[in-house]
Amino acid sequence: MITFRVMKPTDLPFFMHLMDMVGWGMTPQDYDRILRFSPTGCFIASENNQDLGMVATTNYGTIAWIGNLVVQPETRGKGIGAALMQHAIDHLVSKGTKAIRLDGVQAAVPLYRRLGFKDEYWSLRHTGTATHHTTDCTPMKPEDLDAVSKLDKQVFKDDRRHVIEYFYELYPELCYTAWENDKLVGYIMAKEGASNTKIGPWVAEPGHPCAEKLLYSVMNQRVGGEIWVGTPEGNKLSVAILEKLGFVPHPSSLRMCYGDSSIRENVEYTYGLGGPDKG
Ligand SMILES: CC(C)(COP(=O)(O)OP(=O)(O)OC[C@H]1O[C@@H](n2cnc3c(N)ncnc32)[C@H](O)[C@@H]1OP(=O)(O)O)[C@@H](O)C(=O)NCCC(=O)NCCS
Repeated sequence: MITFRVMKPTDLPFFMHLMDMVGWGMTPQDYDRILRFSPTGCFIASENNQDLGMVATTNYGTIAWIGNLVVQPETRGKGIGAALMQHAIDHLVSKGTKAIRLDGVQAAVPLYRRLGFKDEYWSLRHTGTATHHTTDCTPMKPEDLDAVSKLDKQVFKDDRRHVIEYFYELYPELCYTAWENDKLVGYIMAKEGASNTKIGPWVAEPGHPCAEKLLYSVMNQRVGGEIWVGTPEGNKLSVAILEKLGFVPHPSSLRMCYGDSSIRENVEYTYGLGGPDKG
């Protein structure tokens, strides 16, 4: 019989085993973040004391995310992935979450549709090499966090200040803001993945020239390194910036929603997602 248990810090080796296998570039730092913000919302499926798969949730209150669904290859196709997903959905629904979202790889989309998720849009992926550019964006300061969190909530439609603060503390040199007459018009944050720098959230007023300059600010910190960006397909300007800079597209994921899909982020402001597993 399949049983489920809450993931614990001691499950790090199993998490890294699964993540290295699927090559999503997750690090022990990601595990720390996942458990810190969701200490009772990440689950392992086991049978006869053998760990078979995992799923993680990130709950912002009204909106939540499901990510990191992986089952050991030798036990796939037996319903374990679906059972893990249902366990995660039940957990989030019991907490009062109104909308559950995910970025699904194309092979897993039929599974998510069967579980009640509805298609929203393509979530694009690009990587490129960081090159140096002139930019006038300002390094983010601790006193900017109020304004950044406020703009982020307007765009994301839920409060992720705790996540913003966490990443700011870890990578302050990868966080920038853009201002116009003392008004925050954009900001960018980034973090280190296993082999690249992952952009996001990257937020700016629609069509504002600061969007491109914010990206430059991060690239200038990592010249020669690989940069990863996830973008909602509705943000055409982000795609145009990335193409102009020679970024290459990778297979897209499908953004899907379970529950109240009317609570959705403003894609015109969203140049870069916070992350495929957490929005
Ligand atoms: C997705 C995954 C967790 C499903 O686990 P599972 O235990 O095989 O799932 P179930 O037996 O409940 O359901 C099988 C469904 O998984 C999906 N699936 C099958 N192969 C897959 C693959 N290589 N990658 C992703 N999804 C796959 C299909 O929708 C399949 O449905 P089908 O039977 O109609 O073809 C598993 O295939 C996996 O670990 N894949 C690699 C990691 C991954 O892609 N995770 C999803 C990220 S969004």
